[in-house]
Amino acid sequence: MAFKRPKIALIGGGQIGGVLAQLSALRELGDVVMYDIVEDMPQGKTLDIAEASRVDGFDVKVNGTNDYKDIEGSDIVIVTAGLPRKPGMSRDDLLTTNAKIIKTVAENIKQYAPDSYVIVISNPLDAMVTLMKEVTGFPANRVMGQAGVLDSSRFATFIAWELGVSVKDVNAMVLGGHGDTMVPLVRYANVNGCPVVELLEKKYGDKAKAKEVMDAMVERTKKAGGEVVALLKTGSAFYSPASSAIQMAEAILRDQKRVLPVCAYLDGEYGVKDFYVGVPVILGGNGVEKVVELDLNDEEQAMFDNSVNAVKKLIDDMKRLGFL
Ligand code: APR
Repeated sequence: MAFKRPKIALIGGGQIGGVLAQLSALRELGDVVMYDIVEDMPQGKTLDIAEASRVDGFDVKVNGTNDYKDIEGSDIVIVTAGLPRKPGMSRDDLLTTNAKIIKTVAENIKQYAPDSYVIVISNPLDAMVTLMKEVTGFPANRVMGQAGVLDSSRFATFIAWELGVSVKDVNAMVLGGHGDTMVPLVRYANVNGCPVVELLEKKYGDKAKAKEVMDAMVERTKKAGGEVVALLKTGSAFYSPASSAIQMAEAILRDQKRVLPVCAYLDGEYGVKDFYVGVPVILGGNGVEKVVELDLNDEEQAMFDNSVNAVKKLIDDMKRLGFL
């Protein structure tokens, strides 16, 4: 048996796709092929990245294509095809346009990369992952969405800034759907084991003020994607979503058994059956290997249920529109 280098297919070579290609190359995760419907663009972008190989010291192939056949044999497929949010536009507004695109993408992944693990980034995330699973018919451990890693990283970043500590020591997790109902888990947030709530109370010497500051960070986390959209004017966040998906891809390719919040299929866990929603999972060589169930208190469970209901509405819309 000959060993072979992993192959990573990127469907969508836009803003996120470009950073995904560069990060995959820099970390030598495997050979990269970037597909886009726009002629020549993925070829140009990947040529540009490949020509930095000597300087950056990576030795993997980075190619662009307009032909799905070139994704054949891919181990991981990361999907960003679709339109990004425009200012003032909700993720849900994107539903119809992106569902059509994802359906075609899924059919091609099924045909050309039937053994791959698929990470979806396209919004509205929870709905697009569901559609990807439905159309490919892949088992649930091989189809997942990226949202929680990014939302959690945003939450951790705000906590680090507020407390003046290294972000490397902050652990914070966000569950639920990737929308305004997401659930930043305040009670579990900690700085190297020290509860963030306690640290805030010590900083301000006042429980009410500490709660106010935490609430503001939670709100900022929920609206963080929109904050970037409003500043960029055109397009949405792309560096941080790409980094987050690469962390997931690396966890799978290197069988790292990372515990990460991922948009995963629930089969009864958290009291949810037959729905994709953001929860902590063990991510390793077999994709989503296990959903990690945390004990939520009543308030957290209510917020989680609210978030699940928002995802259910999206799925109902998809059914009404004939996509599911
Ligand atoms: N097949 C393949 N690629 C497509 C298709 C299609 N049918 N339709 C559009 N694309 C490509 C576009 O040509 C573009 O290059 O998808 C790419 C999307 O890139 P950007 O517009 O730059 O969007 P990006 O910022 O990368 O975000 C992609 O991720 O976070 C989500 O909301 C975001 O849904 C959006 C997605």
